[in-house]
Amino acid sequence: MMRFLQWLHRWTSLIIIIQVLLWIISGFYFSIAGHHAMSGHHYYKMTHNHTPMQSSQALDWPQLSNQFAGIRDVQLRTVAGTPQYVVEHAKGVSYLDASTGKPWSTTEMMAANLALASYSGPGDIAEITWLTAGSNEVNGWLKPGYRVDIRDDLNTRIYIDAASGAVVEHRNTPWLWADWAFKLHFMDYSGERNFNHLLIVSAGVLTLWFTLSGLILLGRNVVRGDMNPRRKQTYLEFFQAQQKPIASACGGGGTCGLCKVRFKGTAPSATESDRVMLSESELREGLRLSCQHRVCKDNNADLLQTDTRTLTLKLVHNRVLTPSIHELTFLPKNASTFSYQAGQFMQFLIPCEASRGTVILHRNYSFATAPGQPELTFTVRKMPAPDTSCQPGVGSTYLCGMQVGETINAVGPMGDFLLNTAARGERQQVFIGGGAGIAPLRALIQEALEEAEIQAPIQFFYGARNQSELCYVDEFMALQEQQRLQYHPVISEHDATWRGLSGYVHDIAKTWLQTQDTQYLDVYVCGPPAMLAATRAMLDEIGVPPEQVRYDDFGI
Ligand code: FES
Repeated sequence: MMRFLQWLHRWTSLIIIIQVLLWIISGFYFSIAGHHAMSGHHYYKMTHNHTPMQSSQALDWPQLSNQFAGIRDVQLRTVAGTPQYVVEHAKGVSYLDASTGKPWSTTEMMAANLALASYSGPGDIAEITWLTAGSNEVNGWLKPGYRVDIRDDLNTRIYIDAASGAVVEHRNTPWLWADWAFKLHFMDYSGERNFNHLLIVSAGVLTLWFTLSGLILLGRNVVRGDMNPRRKQTYLEFFQAQQKPIASACGGGGTCGLCKVRFKGTAPSATESDRVMLSESELREGLRLSCQHRVCKDNNADLLQTDTRTLTLKLVHNRVLTPSIHELTFLPKNASTFSYQAGQFMQFLIPCEASRGTVILHRNYSFATAPGQPELTFTVRKMPAPDTSCQPGVGSTYLCGMQVGETINAVGPMGDFLLNTAARGERQQVFIGGGAGIAPLRALIQEALEEAEIQAPIQFFYGARNQSELCYVDEFMALQEQQRLQYHPVISEHDATWRGLSGYVHDIAKTWLQTQDTQYLDVYVCGPPAMLAATRAMLDEIGVPPEQVRYDDFGI
């Protein structure tokens, strides 16, 4: 519940911050543009074209009475020099040419004269356009008429109603800007200039919710002692202060699941974050998230990996596997006996220039090969900047830009995305991945292939956007030819030259999984967050037992 509250509070705050920025920017625009910009009347001149006539014009009352039921009022006036009757009747208002008694008709020439008569600027007419149903620049005016475009510095356009010959509105470029500022400021996108509508009421309710949820979370933090400067450390803080190697990608938020520790004796009660991030069996084994529990004399926590070390790695190979993925091979300089398990990762210490000098950032990358070789291989997906206002991924840019012979420090091994040995040989192994998820999956597949108990061929479903993003294709095809692995590469983008599987990798995997007895499968999943979430939901839907599913979400 608290996690959901936290999540909702965070996203609500983002929406509110965006709206506050819009209020500030649009309010600033109002203050510099003034009310003139809102009206569009920079070159508007009051006209007297609709002059009430003093002299009485002959009225054909019988004809009018036949034409309009329930006449309430009749006025005679001139429009651009032509007499016009304005007849108010039970069904509305009608306009007649007083000299002929026929319905009023505004000609293009008359519209031009009316527009110029209402205009005080320096321009002349550029274009006249007939409108069949008003204009969205004039709210509520949906009748036929003319748009008279004036050639001037403000792009003035004047709207003339055809039925009455009335000048409906002046609009121009400053009005357009002001109109958008109004829409954004008052959250009124209907153009009605209304600030008492459903959206703004909803925004008020949302802000009230934001305030209340903030108060609830603040109360929770006070009760937990987070505001107390003398509060006890969490186990994560405790290990970090002791310079012990412990992974964290969320800074203690309880959302990455990397900071697992094992409690000796009685483990503290599992928190909501523990229950979300850890499996039932892990909870039973006394595993908890170290960021969720405070150091206490009643219990004692140990790091999961006690053989973790800091290595200096020398780059010996930097190979471009796909347009976005590099394969980096390092030789440890100070660790001839270093060992790890397939599925684990190293935490790279990336030097990064900041305003306060060089800082060290921690980035996790999985081993891309099974252990047993002197070199350590990783695949790194180069994260480009989404646009010029953002920096590209610091860790991936640094690593992919390294030259052969350069060194970097890394801490590891860490992580427990390992082969499930509980039912060794009894279950078929299925690997589902995408993008940079190739690294731990490839290492796990290599390790699984070394195991003598493997009965059925391993199934490997790997998704990429296009053919060029598929990596290690030759290696997996060779294993398929040896009938040790069934390789299912899947392309999500349309490609007429592609003869293989198309679509989303989790959908393709689902088709195969539905033909299997899910009780006899171990499934390993790694890939981008959206793919991972879709795959986990699919596995849940088709009934693969959760304890037979292992996944690595890169600590996101
Ligand atoms: S640091 Fe504990 S879950 Fe991320």
